Amino acid sequence: MLGPVILAASRSDRIRRLISAAPVTRQVVDRFIPGATVDEIVPIVRELTDRGLELTMDVVGEDITTPEQAGAARDAYLELVDRLKQLELGTRAELSVKLSMFGQALPGGHELALANVRPVVEAAAAIGTTVTLDAEDHTTLDSMFAIHEELRKDFPQTGCVIQAYLFRTEADARRLAGNGSRVRLVKGAYKEPAEVAHQSKHEIDKAYVRILKVLVEGEGYPMIGSHDPRLISIAQELAHRAGRKLDEYEFQMLYGIRGDEHLRLAAEGHRMRVYTAYGTDWYGYFMRRLAEKPANLRFFARSILTR
Ligand code: FDA
Repeated sequence: MLGPVILAASRSDRIRRLISAAPVTRQVVDRFIPGATVDEIVPIVRELTDRGLELTMDVVGEDITTPEQAGAARDAYLELVDRLKQLELGTRAELSVKLSMFGQALPGGHELALANVRPVVEAAAAIGTTVTLDAEDHTTLDSMFAIHEELRKDFPQTGCVIQAYLFRTEADARRLAGNGSRVRLVKGAYKEPAEVAHQSKHEIDKAYVRILKVLVEGEGYPMIGSHDPRLISIAQELAHRAGRKLDEYEFQMLYGIRGDEHLRLAAEGHRMRVYTAYGTDWYGYFMRRLAEKPANLRFFARSILTR
C-alpha cells in the first residue's frame, strides 16, 4: 500500500522541496545514484565493465520547465558520450534517456524532445553505441513511440521500453517485436489508474510473462529489465525454448539492487546490463526506487534521524 502513496508524494512540489533539502547523507542517494558528475561516474563505469557487466547510463532529471533546461540535459548527455568515447566500450556502455528531460512536456514538446534527442543518438552511434528511450507515464507514450519510430529510420538500433502493467503493452510488444528491434520489458514504475493498468502484482507478473513470450518468440532483441528471481528464471526457460543463444537477449537491472545477481548472471555467460544513473536532480528517480520497495523508506528515514 505504501508504494502508491510514495509515488503520489513524488509528484508534490512541497514534498520534493522537503526531501531535497533534508539532510540526506550522500550514502543514501549513492546506493541508487552513485555519482553527481560525469567525473564521479567514470570510475564506476570502469569498475563495472571490468567485472564483466555492461551498462546503460542515465543522467537523472525529468521535471524540467524550460527549453533551456532541456538543452542543458541534451548537453549533459553529449558530455557523457564524449567521456565514453575515451573508454572505447562500444555497446558495453549504452545510454537510457527520458524524453521528459528533453522537453517533451513543454509546449511544442514532441518536436523539441525529438530535436534534443537526435544529436544524442547521432553522437552515440558515432562512438559505436546505442540509445534506449525509457517509458514514463502512460500519457507520454504515444509521443515516445512516434519519436522512437522516427529515430529508427536513421538509427535502427535505437531501443525503447515497454511496461507490463499497461493494458496496451501486449499490442505494443507485437508491433515492436520485428527484426532488428531492441525492446526492454519492465513491470512499470509510475502510478497509473485502473483504466489503463493492472494494479495487482499478480496480474502484472502474469502480463510480464505473456509479453516476454511475444518478445522472445519474435525477431528482435529482448532486454529483460527485472530483479524478480521468478521472472528471471522464466525468461531463461522461455529464451531457451525459443532457441535463443545467450547473446540473443540480455538481462538488465538497476544499479544498487541485487548486485550479487548481476554478477551471478554475468558469470553464467549472460549479457547483464546495469542501469546506472548519475546527476544532481535525483529526486524523481530516487522516489521511484523507494516506492518499489517501501522497506527502503526505513533506511532513508534512519539516515536522516541518525545524523
Ligand atoms: P519487483 O518490484 O517485484 O522486485 C523483485 C525484487 O527485486 C524485490 O523483491 C526486491 O528484492 C528487489 N527490488 C526491486 N526493486 C527494488 C528497490 N527499489 N529497492 C530494493 N530492492 C528492490 N520502469 C518504467 O516505468 N520505465 C522505465 O523506463 C524503466 N526502466 C527500467 C530499466 C531497468 C534496467 C530496470 C531493471 C527497471 C526499469 N524500470 C522502469 C523499473 C521497473 O518498472 C520496476 O519498477 C522495477 O524494476 C521493479 O520491478 P521488478 O521487476 O524488479 O520486480
